[in-house]
Amino acid sequence: MRTYCIGIFNLDDNPQRCLNYLCSMKTSKFARESKAISSEIVLPNDTNTLGNLMGGRLLHWMDIIAAISAHRHCKRIVVTASVNNVSFGRPIRLADIVTLEAQVSRAFTSSMEVFIDVWVENHSTGERIKHNEAIYTFVAVDQLGNPIAVPELTPETELEHLRYDGALRRRQLSLILAGKLKPESATELKALFLPKEA
Ligand SMILES: CC(C)(COP(=O)(O)OP(=O)(O)OC[C@H]1O[C@@H](n2cnc3c(N)ncnc32)[C@H](O)[C@@H]1OP(=O)(O)O)[C@@H](O)C(=O)NCCC(=O)NCCS
Repeated sequence: MRTYCIGIFNLDDNPQRCLNYLCSMKTSKFARESKAISSEIVLPNDTNTLGNLMGGRLLHWMDIIAAISAHRHCKRIVVTASVNNVSFGRPIRLADIVTLEAQVSRAFTSSMEVFIDVWVENHSTGERIKHNEAIYTFVAVDQLGNPIAVPELTPETELEHLRYDGALRRRQLSLILAGKLKPESATELKALFLPKEA
């Protein structure tokens, strides 16, 4: 029987590792390629007793659109690893039209940081006002749930560069809070607070 080899793996012995190896051959993709947009209308079942959109419902919508964005970047199964930052700047009212825009801001080895911007549309003028922002981290996994490599991300616009540059510090903070990184190892994060050595 013929045996196929991919990289250092024997296809017959370990097809899953071969697949992971092939997927780990990195390419780079533009941030804009991961853009995902969705719109929702706030219905009575989405609101709290004050008639405002419930935070949990918004988190759910954010999770879905951010997962689609991360998937567009890597074309693999993705899982939410952490919700790093959510701000509920102002309430969203019953019947408001809410637009969520998600885009990957940086890709690491298997993880991707995704920014979600939330806009609310004025019914009479159509003007959009930004209400919320959130940052989620997704990890690409294989069929068994093991993390796998994702393509690198290339920022183009000024905003994409700004978010790309800050992503490493946010990742370090998230990993410290998750108990996966020692604070003393978070070099980029520490540099924000400590004066540069002469
Ligand atoms: C996310 C998950 C795949 C990470 O697996 P793991 O075995 O902990 O893997 P590792 O520690 O090697 O981390 C893998 C990647 O996740 C990142 N990661 C893990 N926890 C993280 C966190 N809290 N914040 C940011 N990134 C995190 C790591 O930095 C690493 O990224 P990299 O490959 O780009 O360097 C695993 O924890 C998992 O399956 N969690 C459940 C996911 C889920 O069910 N989500 C739905 C929410 S209920």
